[in-house]
Order: sequence, then C-alpha cells, then structure tokens
Amino acid sequence: SKKWILMVTAQTPTNIAVIKYWGKRDENLILAINDSISVTLDPAHLCTTTTVAVSPSFQQDRMWLNKKEISLDGARYQNCLREIRARANDYEDEKKGIKISKNDWQNLHVHIDSYNNFPTAAGLASSAAGFACLVFSLAKLMNVQEDNGRLSAIARQGSGSACRSLFGGFVKWVMGKEEDGSDSIAVPLADEKHWDELVIIIAVVSSRQKETSSTSGMRETVVTSALIDHRAKEVVPKRIVQMEEAIQNRDFPTFAQLTCSDSNQFHAVCMDTSPPIFYMNDTSHRVISCVEKWNRAEGTPQVAYTFDAGPNAVLIARNRKAATLMLQRLLFHFPPNSDTDLDSYVIGDKSILK
Ligand code: PMV
Repeated sequence: SKKWILMVTAQTPTNIAVIKYWGKRDENLILAINDSISVTLDPAHLCTTTTVAVSPSFQQDRMWLNKKEISLDGARYQNCLREIRARANDYEDEKKGIKISKNDWQNLHVHIDSYNNFPTAAGLASSAAGFACLVFSLAKLMNVQEDNGRLSAIARQGSGSACRSLFGGFVKWVMGKEEDGSDSIAVPLADEKHWDELVIIIAVVSSRQKETSSTSGMRETVVTSALIDHRAKEVVPKRIVQMEEAIQNRDFPTFAQLTCSDSNQFHAVCMDTSPPIFYMNDTSHRVISCVEKWNRAEGTPQVAYTFDAGPNAVLIARNRKAATLMLQRLLFHFPPNSDTDLDSYVIGDKSILK
C-alpha cells in the first residue's frame, strides 16, 4: 500500500567557534584551510528542530525552512542527500507492514521540515545547526549505521561549521589532508560537563540578515587578502594547540585571550579583503571596548567575546557571577530600545536573571 509514512525528529544546537574557520581549499567538498575549535551551545536555546519524513506517496524531495518552502536544488543539499542515501540500510517494521530495502531509498522521496528558534543567517550560525540536524535526522530515518564523526564529514558538505554541531561540548574540526575530505571531520575535545561553570550570553546587536554570506566572504578573502596565508599557516596551528590545552585545564585567562584575539584576527582578515568586509558595526565595537575595559580593571579576564560573520556578540563568562555582572553592564551601556541598541539578549542560561 502507499499509505504509510515514516518520520524522525531531531534537535541540534548551534556552535560558536573560539578559533575560527575562514577560507576553503575545496569549495565543493568544503575543506578548510585551517583547523577550528568551537563550543556547542545548550540545546535549550539556539537550536534547529528538523522532522524528516518518507512515504511512497511523496512525488519529490521537498523542504520547508521556518514554514516556507525552499529549494533543494543547491549542491549543498544535494551532496548531503546523496551521501546519506548511499549509506542507507534496510528498514523493517512488521507491525506497520513497512519494509524498505537498502536500494529502495534511492527512489523514495523525503519531506524535510526545519525550524530555527533564532534569527536565520544573521551570523548566529544557523546553517551550522541546520545542516547538522538535517544530516543527523536523515541518517536516523534511513538507518545509517555510522558514528557522529563520519556523519560530521557529510554535514560539512552542507556547511563547514555544521560538522562541529554533531557533538556537544568543545569540538575540533580537523581540516584533514585527503583530497576526498574523508579525514576532514569533527572530533570531540571535552564534553558539555567538562567546563560547566562557563555561561554564554549572546547580545543580538541586529537580527537582520548579513550582507556578505560566509561563502562569498571566504572566497574573496582567500583570493585577495595578504594576511590570510599567515593566519592559516602560522597563527592558527599554534592557537589550536594552546586552546586545546586551555580547555583541558579549564584555564580561563588563556581561553579568553585566545578567543578574543582569534575573533579580532578573523575580522582583521575580513577588513584586509578587497573589497573589505565589515561584519561588526559600531555597537559591536563598543561591546568589545566595554569587555576589554572591564577585564583590565579586574586584573584577570572575566568575559571573552567572539563575533562570527555578523555584528552579534557572543560573550563567554567565566562563571555565573561574571555573567550577571556582564549583563548588568550591557543593560547599563546599551539600554533597550535606543537607536544603536541591542535588539535583545539570548542568555545561555536563563536562570542567571533570577
Ligand atoms: O560554515 P559557514 O559557511 O557558516 O562558515 C562559518 C564561519 C564562521 O562562523 C565565521 C566561523 C566558524 O568557524 O564558525
């Protein structure tokens, strides 16, 4: 019969890089020019929820993002769908009378319904959570028997940063050496319990969509920046080693210094691109000054800041007390509803307001 439908729902949090990925050596496979390290957020806050369904009555693959239908024609979606289908396995549910053999998946169509609980494409790594969730849920649906490391290499082909969202806690994306990208995967460095004093606050400076996509931005940087080679070859490899050590030792001063410097260098190579790319705005710069001044006054860093391809500030506080003080400072210096203002705050751990 053509009546059955099989569904899987998954939820995946976004991740924020503390050592940034910026620049590809292969655009189709999405292979990076340097390793990167990120922290995966709490799934309760910034996350994507995706439901994938399969039924013999579906006529074609279709997808809805935030309730609007979007095209699956792009190479990124096609690559993910192809790679998952290639690894599909037999599935049987005797009670429901469903029997799908390995090869059937090639001809069965899927419907994908994806929803972000935060602004899409505003530099809040929506594509990271999105592709990680898509690949994970499709893999479950099609009974793919691969570990999250192998799945990360598929998610990477949707969006580079997505590979890091297959794991919680601190995660490294190893750029790899192989031409086929088989060793360009995410590896977990420490789980979410390892350093649970940290509190992440996201100050949403603007929820508007960014002007330069990370894809075109990276391409322009790699071709035109005189600094990017130095960053990828000389600076990042050392920082990766230092950052891994800082995470293992829960060494906040080193962690904060590396995180802030790496964000600033990423935005410096953006500025060094021709034409220059400005992801941060005046408010972002004022947030940086505010954090830098406070850290200096305290004598030891209380908060680290990092900005992705957009003006929103991701603030990582050393503990709950520092997070509360940071929030008070933000509210004082950036009172809600004025012109240059912050749109809203997304707080990594809501209980800090109590
Ligand atoms: O994976 P993409 O194409 O969304 O690129 C992400 C790039 C940054 O967010 C700026 C840095 C990173 O490592 O996540």
